[in-house]
Amino acid sequence: MPTLHIKSEKNAFSDIVLMPGDPIRAKYIAKNYLKDAIQINDTRLMLAYTGYYKNKKISIMSHGMGIPSASLYVRELISEYNVKKIIRVGTCGTLQNNIKLRDIVISMGASTDSKVNRIRFNNHDYAAIADFEMIFHAFSIAKKMNFKVHIGNFFTTDSFYNENEDMLKILKKYNIIGIDMETAGIYAVASELKAQALSICTVSDHITKKEAVSSKDRESSFHNMITLSLETTLLL
Ligand code: HPA
Repeated sequence: MPTLHIKSEKNAFSDIVLMPGDPIRAKYIAKNYLKDAIQINDTRLMLAYTGYYKNKKISIMSHGMGIPSASLYVRELISEYNVKKIIRVGTCGTLQNNIKLRDIVISMGASTDSKVNRIRFNNHDYAAIADFEMIFHAFSIAKKMNFKVHIGNFFTTDSFYNENEDMLKILKKYNIIGIDMETAGIYAVASELKAQALSICTVSDHITKKEAVSSKDRESSFHNMITLSLETTLLL
C-alpha cells in the first residue's frame, strides 16, 4: 500500500531490506550486488530497489539521515509493506584506540542523546538492542569470511557536529564503539512493530584522532560490509 513517503506497489519489497543512509549508495548496491534489480521508489529521491542476491529476494532502500528520517521509513516498510528484517548498512565515527578507520562495527545496542525513546517509554531509559538472531548470524559469517568485526554499544546522536569534549570522554569511558545518527531509533521502531533489525557500519572517521576515510578508501571497506550483510540475509 503506498504510504505518505513510499509510493511502491503493495508487494514491491522483499521481507528483508538493506538500508544505507544515502540514496546513491542504495543505487550502487542494487546495481553492483543484486541481479535483476528494479527501482521501486523515488519519492523524495529516497531510492528503493528489489532484486536477487544468490536467488534470495532482497530490497535496498535508503533511510536518509537522523532518527526522524530513518524511523519513518522503517515504520512504513514494516507496517505497510510487510518488511520483517532490516539491516542498516552505514558509516559511523569512533573514538576507541583499538578501532581503526574502515573497521566493521556491529551495534549490539544503541544509547542516544535523542529523546524519542524516552517519549515512547514513559520517560524511562529504553535499552535499544539488535535482534539476537541477526547479530549471531552476522558474527558467524564474519568469522567464516575472516572479516574483523567489533561488536558493542553505539551512541546515536542528533548532532553530527558536536564539539562537547566532556561527552566524548564519557562515550570513550563507557566503551561506545560507534557513533551514528540512526541506530537507536531503528531498533526501537523494529522492536515496537515486532520486526528484526541490525546495524552494521564501517568506521568513516576517528573522532579523537581526527582521521577520516578518503572517498577512494570508502569503497573497499564498504564492499566487506555489504558482503557480510548480504551473506547474513541468506541465513535469515
Ligand atoms: N558522528 C555521527 N554520525 C556519524 C559520524 C560521526 O562522527 N560518522 C559517520 N556518521
